[in-house]
Amino acid sequence: MKNILFSLAAIALTACSQVEVPARYEVVPLPQVITLTEAAPFKLDRHCVIAYQNDAEGLMSRNAEFLAEYINQSTGHTLTLKQLEGTEQGGSHAIILTLDASIPNDEGYRLTADAQGVRLCARTPRGIFYGIQTLRKSMPASAQGATILLPSGQVEDRPRFAYRGMHLDVCRHFFPLSFVKKYIDLLALHNMNTLHWHLTDDQGWRLEIKKYPRLTEVGSQRSRTVIGRNSGEYDETPYGGFYTQEEAREIVRYAQERHITVIPEVEMPGHALAALAAYPEFGCTGGPYEVCPLWGVFDDVFCIGNDQAMQFLEDVLAEVIDIFPSRYIHIGGDEAPRTRWQQCPKCQARIRTEKLKADAKHSAEDRLQSYCMTRIERFLNERGRQIIGWDEILEGDVAPNATVMSWRGSAGGIQAAQMGHDVIMTSNDYCYFDYYQTKERENEPLAIGGYVPLEKVYSLEPTAQLTAEQARHIVGAQANLWTEYIATPEHVEYMVLPRMAALCEVQWSAPEKKSYDDFRNRLTRLVDIYQRDSLNYSVSGLNE
Ligand code: ACM
Ligand code: ZN
Repeated sequence: MKNILFSLAAIALTACSQVEVPARYEVVPLPQVITLTEAAPFKLDRHCVIAYQNDAEGLMSRNAEFLAEYINQSTGHTLTLKQLEGTEQGGSHAIILTLDASIPNDEGYRLTADAQGVRLCARTPRGIFYGIQTLRKSMPASAQGATILLPSGQVEDRPRFAYRGMHLDVCRHFFPLSFVKKYIDLLALHNMNTLHWHLTDDQGWRLEIKKYPRLTEVGSQRSRTVIGRNSGEYDETPYGGFYTQEEAREIVRYAQERHITVIPEVEMPGHALAALAAYPEFGCTGGPYEVCPLWGVFDDVFCIGNDQAMQFLEDVLAEVIDIFPSRYIHIGGDEAPRTRWQQCPKCQARIRTEKLKADAKHSAEDRLQSYCMTRIERFLNERGRQIIGWDEILEGDVAPNATVMSWRGSAGGIQAAQMGHDVIMTSNDYCYFDYYQTKERENEPLAIGGYVPLEKVYSLEPTAQLTAEQARHIVGAQANLWTEYIATPEHVEYMVLPRMAALCEVQWSAPEKKSYDDFRNRLTRLVDIYQRDSLNYSVSGLNE
């Protein structure tokens, strides 16, 4: 009986594997150049081998594993991996991953397919990873047991922008390590290479700092949370969470395998209430302060006149750069009221000793913020790192080497590019994924406000209004996800999917080939992956 069942299963499997399903290289984001021929396709079945040339860090073997995993998700086939030795070619009926120094872009790749095999070449393992993402999205999401027909031809691809980011605020609401990893997987699926991890804010400090244990003992916990949009009513439920340094390192490693850089953000001089609740001596008034239970911009900020407070910021950053190897460290700089500094003897003394002067456009206190940013920039530059700051850092004297993150529209980004600073575009009117995505709000979860539908995201042109010379300073684009009104992983998914798909095409693809209708057609197959993987995507942009 057992034998009969076994044979029946084998016959069923054989029958299934005869089903042939075509792949299409026209994925999201659209590759730069796709050239197809009339020749017979490559038949990707369970006998196909993934052959790879290894590298010193093992990134190519990890790439091969990713490809095998993706093929398994789509087809159920478990392919054999084979490391190529010396000049070995990989044989026939294989997908061959090799490095090729002649590919012009570090993240670019060339995919060539014919009936004999598929060859994926790139200058670096990063490029191979993006070729694998294209292969993965070319296949149908669910074709269990099927043979996939990869069209004969070539894909030559590279990203438009070097910085392709998504931000995640884990302060207003905290997300477990497992979900941060899932979020990183979403970035990889959308060819993004940077996670901007917003780790400190008024409502919670989320990263262990060994020298200042109260930051997490006290600063990671709030006693209650306001209900709705600062209704005045509170849930009276303690809320908190933080990542140990070991956990943060685990996230860095997880992201690295997926060729994603994690940029930590430590907010200063504003959005500091959680830190001040832990160490009130670093505020202008000395407190007491509370880890903030409501949303907004608050007057209590770090005391820039206090050398111990400046030392504290540097000590924190010293631990942060030990955890995060990113070239950039984000130091915030947004929404810092000058109210306390105007009254604080220490801050006023600093203004005098540093000879910070008001002029027609800027107050002496504006220049105190610039002093803070520039001093911290020097600290980080001396340690080989660069700063990113929100566009408020343009108010005063911009820290000389700062990269500016434009969020209040694109004006700050344009101004910064004109001044010769590098810029990341995250304009709220295109890139704030905490905003509503539909006008039909009845059944939508409460959001902060605004209106950024899918098509609006797609229409972003990060270099608009800039000369070619200025446009070179736009290093990329990013969407931000502030989580005042987003308390669960499922809700995060709902806010970012499918808007990430529209953004990734802005970040990656050639602007002259952009077509919203064409994007919408291609998006269907990406949404099949969301569906297969039980991701909680919004359908509003898909129906409108
Ligand atoms: C911001 O949205 N406050 C950068
Ligand atoms: Zn002060």
